[in-house]
Amino acid sequence: MAFTSGRHFLQIPGPTNVPDRVLRAIDFPTMDHRGPEFGKLGLEILDGLKFVFQTQQPVVIYPASGTGAWEAALVNTLSPGDKVLMTETGHFATLWQKMAAKLGLQVELLATDWRRGADPVAIGARLKEDKAHAIKAVCVVHNETSTGVTSRIPLVRKAIDAAGHPALFMVDTISSLASIDYRHDEWGVEVTVAGSQKGLMLPPGLSFNAVSEKARKAGQTAKLAKSYWGWDEIIAANKSGFFPYTPATNLLYGLHEAIQMLREEGLPQVFARHARHAEATRRAVRAWGLEILCANPEEYSNTLTAVMMPAGHDADALRKIILQAYDMSLGTGLSKLAGKVFRIGHLGDFNDLTLMGTLSGVEMGLALAGVPHKKGGVQTAMEYMTECARGKSAERVAA
Ligand SMILES: Cc1ncc(COP(=O)(O)O)c(C=O)c1O
Repeated sequence: MAFTSGRHFLQIPGPTNVPDRVLRAIDFPTMDHRGPEFGKLGLEILDGLKFVFQTQQPVVIYPASGTGAWEAALVNTLSPGDKVLMTETGHFATLWQKMAAKLGLQVELLATDWRRGADPVAIGARLKEDKAHAIKAVCVVHNETSTGVTSRIPLVRKAIDAAGHPALFMVDTISSLASIDYRHDEWGVEVTVAGSQKGLMLPPGLSFNAVSEKARKAGQTAKLAKSYWGWDEIIAANKSGFFPYTPATNLLYGLHEAIQMLREEGLPQVFARHARHAEATRRAVRAWGLEILCANPEEYSNTLTAVMMPAGHDADALRKIILQAYDMSLGTGLSKLAGKVFRIGHLGDFNDLTLMGTLSGVEMGLALAGVPHKKGGVQTAMEYMTECARGKSAERVAA
């Protein structure tokens, strides 16, 4: 393949671009994972994860993709035949549901049209009906990466509480953690599932379970078979910063650096940055005359935007042209959205100019591919970002 100058734009909604600081941190000799230096690193990382998940509870790290952390959440807390209530918000919620069924759980699925999030009212109503408390867990994908819809987790928590139901609450934050505000403790989540390759700005390969006391208690009687995924052994070893197996040492170097970067920027600033870039993207999409897949503005995702193609035009043909002409990867439409949407990832190591480059690539690609649209999306986004920057410098002057 011929050399392509300049950086590839990896604007899929994860894995995201890995910043140089993280790449440099990973590029160190692997150390003895049973040695004294490692214990110090381990403790710093485990403490830093509490900051990222906004929790005082343990966060378990797996050398696995996010799918592993999904499985860990279920097998650590549930028994064969247990009922779990899930909402089919899109492709990833469907995969989690299929996994639960394969593990021998009985899944009850609340359907959506893949254009909105989990409905707190429907969840509350179903839990109220369940007088015998047969439902043992409610599982929700916080940010559905296939659709660009963010479910309102605090409202789901309120609905569970209002129903007076003891079900565990499990939330997948794989494409929201460290990008969209998420509070494991304050929002009363029992198990939070996350992955390394999106807001944490790392390569794929690590995943996480943040675990509440109630979840650990449920684990004492949970009968699903588990060995590698078992929390207790890992949490016990973590007390001194070690792991009961060989950890992904070099990815942990990267995680240590990524947490440091998040601390330096500050979580509120990280969330505000993602919100700004998402809003600018949506303004561009509307200016192009295209439709955003998410139908509820209160549930717009701040990490990605799924854009619907005009009838008769194929999203993958557009993506192919953009990749060939501008060396930018955009997210494909998954399962029933194949060909119908493309997804713009605006998360992770991303700034105003990466946003403008991304949107320019889309606008030029739409023209090149002959997709009917109006010009001016990039201009609209630019004007919005300028307004935001003016606001920020006014804040600085006032301070
Ligand atoms: C919301 C969500 N959940 C789960 C997964 C599965 O994670 P992985 O592909 O890392 O196993 C993904 C992957 O993109 C995701 O976006």
